[in-house]
Amino acid sequence: MMIETSLPDSVERVLLDEATIQQRVREMAAEISADYKGIRNEDFILVGVLKGAFIFMADLSRRLTVPHRVDFIALSSYADKADATGAVRMIMDTRTDITGRHVLIVEDILDTGYTLSYLQRVFKARQPASLKTSVILSKPDRRQVEVQVDYLGFEIPNVWVVGYGLDFADRFRTLPYIAAIKPSVYEK
Ligand code: XMP
Ligand code: MG
Repeated sequence: MMIETSLPDSVERVLLDEATIQQRVREMAAEISADYKGIRNEDFILVGVLKGAFIFMADLSRRLTVPHRVDFIALSSYADKADATGAVRMIMDTRTDITGRHVLIVEDILDTGYTLSYLQRVFKARQPASLKTSVILSKPDRRQVEVQVDYLGFEIPNVWVVGYGLDFADRFRTLPYIAAIKPSVYEK
């Protein structure tokens, strides 16, 4: 089998290469590990937002030096709809009861802010011991609602990005870098 070493045709430019992402995730994991020092495994839950956060979740959780559980949720995405109305709904909930536990949301990207503000509202109502949010990417120019983020990887310009879990029409998720795709890909 041939191993792909050149960039796929659909990639316009790489915004964040693999080494840069991995270095930042290491720093974030160190910061989180320091903040949650002394926590017990049953009290600390990382909740990853499927599908986009699955790779960030895997990397971040393996680099934490504090014990923790992992769980996942799935939310509807406006990518499936004609317009971004801000309507978000939960498709799959956590299996763990988060009440009374320390919860860290792990999300791929903060764009308009609707998704995370919805999730934070839903989770707060369940009365966790604490609720924090980690996001690998943010597009500050796109924000419609303010969202509190405790651990942020990178700020990026307003371009559609793929790789490191992020997709376009469920493609490009497993690229090890984060890249902008060519306009011709959208137009297809
Ligand atoms: P909001 O607007 O609610 O959006 O903050 C967050 C969700 O939108 C998706 N999103 C992207 N997905 N490349 C992607 O693959 C992008 O550039 C992008 N921008 C937003 C993503 O699902 C995120 O959870
Ligand atoms: Mg997402």
